Amino acid sequence: MDAIIQIQQLSYSYPDGKEALRNVSLSVEAGEKIGIVGANGAGKSTLLLHLNGILHSDGSVKVAGMECMKQNLGKIRALVGMVFQNPDDQLFSITVYDDVAFGPRYQGLEKEEIDKRVNDSLASVQMDEYADRNPYHLSGGEKKRIAIATVLSMEPKILVLDEPTAGLDPRARRELIELLRTLPQTLLIATHDLDLVDSIAERMIIMKDGLISADGPTKVLLQDKKLLLENGLL
Ligand SMILES: Nc1ncnc2c1ncn2[C@@H]1O[C@H](COP(=O)(O)OP(=O)(O)OP(=O)(O)O)[C@@H](O)[C@H]1O
Ligand SMILES: [Mg+2]
Repeated sequence: MDAIIQIQQLSYSYPDGKEALRNVSLSVEAGEKIGIVGANGAGKSTLLLHLNGILHSDGSVKVAGMECMKQNLGKIRALVGMVFQNPDDQLFSITVYDDVAFGPRYQGLEKEEIDKRVNDSLASVQMDEYADRNPYHLSGGEKKRIAIATVLSMEPKILVLDEPTAGLDPRARRELIELLRTLPQTLLIATHDLDLVDSIAERMIIMKDGLISADGPTKVLLQDKKLLLENGLL
C-alpha cells in the first residue's frame, strides 16, 4: 500500500540557527495510529508543523502523494487536521461555535451540516454546553478540548495532535483516549503521556535531539527500560 505520509531526509533549523530536525525520514500508512514521544525540545512539534506546510525546509514531505509546497497546501490542509500544542494558536473567534464551524464553513458545507458537525464535535469532547462561550475566557483544559473539536469538525483524513491530553482532567483525558481509539483516521500524536500511546498507538516513534532514535511496536519499545531512560522518557 502507498504511504499516506512520506518524509524523506527532512532537516530544519529555526531562523536563530537552532537545529531542530536532522535528517528525519518516516513513512506512515493510511489508518496507522502513531505516538511520537521524546524529551522536551526533541523536535516533535517541529516535525508535526511540517505536515501541513506551516514549516518548510530542505528534504521532502509528501501527503497523499502531494509534495508539501505552496501550490498543494490548500488540498493538504483539507486532509490534515492539526491540533497545536498551545490552544491559543488555534482559537480566534468570538464564540466557540464560530471556531468549531470555521473549518466546515471553509469547506463550503450547508448550514445544517455545519450545525451537525459543530454539535457532534463539541459532544465528542464533552463541551456541548459551550457553543456560545468566548474561547478566550475558558480554562486551559477547556480551550484544549475546543481546539480538538475545531479539528474533528473538519473530519480530516489525517489527525495530527500535539499534546492532546496536556491539561485535561482525568475524566476528559479518559474520554478523549476512548474517542481517539475509535476514530478510523490516521493519527499522529506527539505526547509525554506514555499511557496514551500504549492505549491508542500500535507504533511508537522516539525522537531525541532532532533525530528519530527508535521506531517500532509500542509494546516492545515501552518494555525497553534502557531505551526509555536514554531518551529521557523515564
Ligand atoms: N520558534 C523557535 N525558534 C527557535 N528555536 C525553536 C523554536 N521553536 C522550537 N525551537 C527549538 O527547537 C527544538 C525543538 O523544539 P520542539 O518544539 O520541536 O520540541 P518538542 O519535542 O515538541 O518539545 P516539547 O516536548 O517541549 O513540546 C528545541 O530545542 C526548541 O528550543
Ligand atoms: Mg512540542
